[in-house]
Amino acid sequence: MEIRAINTSLLEWTGDGLAIGLFEDGGELTGDVTNLDEKLAGSIKELIAEEEFKGKQGSSIATRVDTGSPVRKVIVVGLGKKEDLKLDKIRRAAAAAARLAKKQKCKTLGISLPVWNNDAAQTAQALAEGVELALYQDNRFKSEPDDQGSQVEKVDLLELGGQEGAITRAHQICSGVILARQLVAAPANSVTPITMAETAVAIASEYGLQVKILEREDCEKLGMGAFLGVAQASDLPPKFIHLTYKPEGTPKRKLAIVGKGLTFDSGGLNIKGTGSGVENMKMDMGGAAATLGAAKAIGQLKPDVEVHFISAVTENMISGHAMHPGDILQASNGKTIEVNNTDAEGRLTLADALVFTEKLGVDAIVDLATLTGACVVALGDDIAGLFSPDDALASELEKAAEISGEKIWRLPMEDKYFEGLKSGIADFKNTGPRAGGSITAALFLKQFVKETPWAHLDVAGPIWADKENGYNGSGATGFGVRTLVSWVLSVA
Ligand code: BES
Ligand code: MG
Ligand code: ZN
Repeated sequence: MEIRAINTSLLEWTGDGLAIGLFEDGGELTGDVTNLDEKLAGSIKELIAEEEFKGKQGSSIATRVDTGSPVRKVIVVGLGKKEDLKLDKIRRAAAAAARLAKKQKCKTLGISLPVWNNDAAQTAQALAEGVELALYQDNRFKSEPDDQGSQVEKVDLLELGGQEGAITRAHQICSGVILARQLVAAPANSVTPITMAETAVAIASEYGLQVKILEREDCEKLGMGAFLGVAQASDLPPKFIHLTYKPEGTPKRKLAIVGKGLTFDSGGLNIKGTGSGVENMKMDMGGAAATLGAAKAIGQLKPDVEVHFISAVTENMISGHAMHPGDILQASNGKTIEVNNTDAEGRLTLADALVFTEKLGVDAIVDLATLTGACVVALGDDIAGLFSPDDALASELEKAAEISGEKIWRLPMEDKYFEGLKSGIADFKNTGPRAGGSITAALFLKQFVKETPWAHLDVAGPIWADKENGYNGSGATGFGVRTLVSWVLSVA
């Protein structure tokens, strides 16, 4: 599929499907759409009336127009209330248009939607992202592709000529999102610590990043007892991934992104039972997937910032040499941890990853992790939890998430709750009471970051979608990549 930005107006464009937007304000047509409707002998007004179309965000309708007309079908997408127009609504409207165009067997699609905030570049980028992310289909594990029918081949963003750069940027970012989706969607017998490391090496060689894979012995030398404790029951070798993007010259800032990378989480001896969603625990490397996806995008966007991408990758399995519940591990900062629950494994792997990362001397660290079911209970499937002792960093991330249309919500790091992690025998336990479980998890991580501004995103909910929504299909969403990229670009 090719996306172009062109100067043609909706009155001049010719092709299979022409998509226009309608606000939720009584369904009045305005400006060029009125003229287009006249040109098409009133068929747009007729369609809207017939379908009782209200312009609700996410809704879309289509109609065939007279043969002999320069367009075959008109697609109308709802934009919601005019005063609530946000960049993400434009992105979602483009996604709805692309989906309907495909269903209507349009090979070419013209999109004419309002420019957000007088910002043609951001608008073009959002439109292109919406189209590309909505049309992506994962057929890797099908013997016959699901969608053999007609495909959208060419998309024109109307009256946005000159925004080729924005389309290229969108494509680079989407390539990172799609990589993250593919890594998360692939089962644990396909994406393993070994293939995750191979993916990191491939990104490094394709986009000129530096890469270092630490093997088990390297991690032992660094004293990463927490990470290795989790890894010890797996038949697969753990891999500690460290990718570095370095711009030319002196970078403005040095940042680090750390992702939880459990290619499968069985729970360990505190095994996950039926009803726990264990069959979907291939997605427990969603943080690492977003980290690699961001690396792939940043490697192409080449901002003036040094970025480190880190993940301690392993499986949480069961065998004769599995951790016993109650075992005591020592992390690389010397802290001892009583593992009172082997299913709280993500924080153990992140502990050593965070200690390693802080030693790099970066200006800020952001970690992403499918860390707790408690965060899903608190915020549901669409919203990630944001935890940070640093207000400035938290607000940078909130802004980046807003631009990207990914939802995050800050939760408190209530120091008093750390009492729940008190241990009689070690420095602390890895699990506290059920109540406030995502907060104690964040407080646990905080023990491994001394002074660097740090934020933690619990992405257990939004990394996966049970049903299609906006530009996300059902399944892996690639959540986090676009927020991370926006954040890195915002400080560049
Ligand atoms: N990977 C899970 C968290 C998770 C749950 C991710 C649901 C996605 C959806 C994590 O390792 C885990 O098992 N957490 C436990 C922590 C508990 C033992 C304190 C949980 O949330 O139940
Ligand atoms: Mg677990
Ligand atoms: Zn886990």
